[in-house]
Amino acid sequence: MLSVADLFWVAWYAALAAGLVAGAALWLLHRWRGRSVAAQLAVVGAATVLATVSGIVVIALMMLINDHDLTVVLSVVTASGLVAMAVSILLGQRLVAANRVLVDAVRADGFSAPATRLPAELAELSRELEAAYARLADAHAREQALEASRRELVAWVSHDLRTPLAGLRAMAEALEDGVVDDEATVRRYHGRIRIEADRLTGMVDDLFELSRIHAGALRLSRERVGLADLVAEAVAGAEALARAKGVRLRGDVRAGLPVQVDAGEFGRALRNLVVNAIRHTPSDGTVEVRGEIDGGQALVTVADACGGIPEQDLPRVFDVAFRGEAARTPGGGAGLGLAIARGIVEAHAGEIGVANTGPGCRFVVRLPV
Ligand SMILES: Nc1ncnc2c1ncn2[C@@H]1O[C@H](COP(=O)(O)OP(=O)(O)OP(=O)(O)O)[C@@H](O)[C@H]1O
Ligand SMILES: [Mg+2]
Repeated sequence: MLSVADLFWVAWYAALAAGLVAGAALWLLHRWRGRSVAAQLAVVGAATVLATVSGIVVIALMMLINDHDLTVVLSVVTASGLVAMAVSILLGQRLVAANRVLVDAVRADGFSAPATRLPAELAELSRELEAAYARLADAHAREQALEASRRELVAWVSHDLRTPLAGLRAMAEALEDGVVDDEATVRRYHGRIRIEADRLTGMVDDLFELSRIHAGALRLSRERVGLADLVAEAVAGAEALARAKGVRLRGDVRAGLPVQVDAGEFGRALRNLVVNAIRHTPSDGTVEVRGEIDGGQALVTVADACGGIPEQDLPRVFDVAFRGEAARTPGGGAGLGLAIARGIVEAHAGEIGVANTGPGCRFVVRLPV
């Protein structure tokens, strides 16, 4: 029977021997930290076997077991050690294989989580990779859409600028060469030249605004403004245009509703909506601008009598350079107004939308208050 003291010494020396083995294994693992998990698992397996064998050597040296028992124990330990090694090598290979599956999935075009069952950590990595790839693909798609719209815009604009410029040049040449000399025509040409110059100025101004919006360089200086003032100003600014077209323009807002906006920029967005509404409403029609508070949001609606926007155009009216069939004529708009309005509203953390209702369509701007 083993005494308590013997038991203590056995434990002490066995721990010492195992500690030495563990120290060596840790040192090796540290040196091999960049190597395959399979190799590191093999080190762990070998260290376990060696630690056990060193314990047995200790009790043999302390002469606590005889030669016969030593042989038996050593062979049992060797056999189970070999099995343990085999298991850790197998596990290592499975990890290596799982990793390879993941690497192959990453190398393929557009990552999708592999169907094979992965260890929890690798599965988590795979999920994260999938999410990161999705974000990347989204950003790429957005970038491409923006690039396409920018290209389209440049094409449209160069066309839109060239046509009036050619007209201006022809009129200027005619005046210069004295080809036209009757007073009425000369006056008409001068008037046209001024109108075209104004239109071009407006377009260049819109382009500049749009490029500031796209570059995220729109600096808003927000202030408390009454919703009623904003609506009244937009209506007042478009009154002359409405009168010239014979369109009734009504503003309707309950006073005393303040919002935090950049009055200049927001006013510009509203003006674009109101001018569009008047332009697309036949004479004798009505355009109504309303301001109200609805569910913690400030709501500005511009309703007109345009006869409705074609269903397939509705999702595209806010796109840069988009214009409806009727507007694609010389002298028509450049298709920038609504893109600018959306940019400004979104810079205010608001939303803008459109729907067909009643005799026409209704543009709705929502702003958090
Ligand atoms: N109130 C409206 N009623 C009917 N159609 C509209 C209305 N507002 C916009 N649209 C349609 O959406 C298109 C895009 O409008 P947007 O204001 O962006 O450009 P535009 O008015 O053609 O040109 P710009 O505003 O640059 O002078 C218009 O061409 C028109 O087809
Ligand atoms: Mg417009």
